Amino acid sequence: MLSTSPDIGCECATRVISRCRELALLTDVPGETTRLFLSPATRNAHGLLMDWFREAKLEVSIDDIGNLRATRRTRVGAPTLILFSHIDTVPNAGPFDGPLGVVLALEAVVQIGQAPLPFNIEIVAFSEEEGVRFRLPFLASRATVGELTEADLKSTDPDGVSVEEAIRSFGLDPARIPSSCPLPASAFAALEVHIEQGPVLESEDKSLAVVEGIAGQTRLQLTFTGKANHAGTTPMTLRHDALAAAAQLIVEAERYALDNSPLVATVGRIEAIPGAINSVTGTVHATLDVRHPKDDVRRAGVAALLIQAKYAAAHRSVTLRATVLSEQPAILMNRALTNRLQQSVGNAGYDAARMFSGAGHDAMVVAPHIPTAMLFVRSPEGLSHHPDETVRTEDVNAALITVVEFIRQLEFGY
Ligand code: HGY
Ligand code: MN
Ligand code: MN
Repeated sequence: MLSTSPDIGCECATRVISRCRELALLTDVPGETTRLFLSPATRNAHGLLMDWFREAKLEVSIDDIGNLRATRRTRVGAPTLILFSHIDTVPNAGPFDGPLGVVLALEAVVQIGQAPLPFNIEIVAFSEEEGVRFRLPFLASRATVGELTEADLKSTDPDGVSVEEAIRSFGLDPARIPSSCPLPASAFAALEVHIEQGPVLESEDKSLAVVEGIAGQTRLQLTFTGKANHAGTTPMTLRHDALAAAAQLIVEAERYALDNSPLVATVGRIEAIPGAINSVTGTVHATLDVRHPKDDVRRAGVAALLIQAKYAAAHRSVTLRATVLSEQPAILMNRALTNRLQQSVGNAGYDAARMFSGAGHDAMVVAPHIPTAMLFVRSPEGLSHHPDETVRTEDVNAALITVVEFIRQLEFGY
């Protein structure tokens, strides 16, 4: 039996933070942290993480979607606790979105040492959560719960490389995904630790939050097609300006979301073609990300914004094509496990907020299949998806003690 929460000093939290910063140097773009799905930087990150996992005497493997798996095994036939997060990043990211959950899980296992446990612990470092390279989020966690589709495997990145070609180029085999990727059938509980990426904990001056649920999200690709023309000679009344149409949608989306809080709507990426200072824009490719804790409200929002987009296009004689790239329903975390997590926070001597997550996470993919809980760590200034993203040592320490306590509590079930 694990002793009571071991006296974990801040040097452990300091090690977690310095390891996340060391991982952040493994990048596809020198001078910033950008680590995309199955890229050379991912291979380097696998190498460093495998060294750390092996130091901790964990069994290490890489499945065929590129997830790195590290297991602390106990007796044969034992149930398994899954501790997870992701190691891919957005472009020019911070060091902690994703890697904090993986490195902190390892530190918690190290703190448990050789104490006998009635269950295995498997740490999973998911290789693709953000959906940057193929515009498809959660590819890696979806592969572990049997939700990866043929269409996903055929999707291509901006260079025309398909997901399955990228898997092969990484030295893996897409045909083996159904056998090598599934989470263990013995999994009885799962926990993701992640930075909050928002302002709530900062505003409440709390280190931790227990996540009750995750907002659903719809990601769309919008293409406005008008007519490129000369900026000097084309009268305003004769233009078919695709960028003006897109701009109207962007402002309408902002207005709609402001009027329907907590719905959020974001046009995060836009490409204007031909993109010349002296040309009327003929074509715009834009993305639209819509989120809300209630799926029916989110879907109504998407429908309303598509009507706005069609209207913004139509009265400029611009056409609109909208494609849903991905849709992830809102989900609640497992109540019993979440209450157990809340109790562990209290036993560790902390007072956690309870909140809903606006950010999407692998936990929303895992939760329908395995009882899942999620712990947030304060994001100073609420900053994330930014190189200045950071954490406080005392907050990471709080999370670390909580996770060790959570594991200790699970010895007695939940
Ligand atoms: O987009 C998100 O919500 C997450 O950061 N992947
Ligand atoms: Mn992210
Ligand atoms: Mn993340």
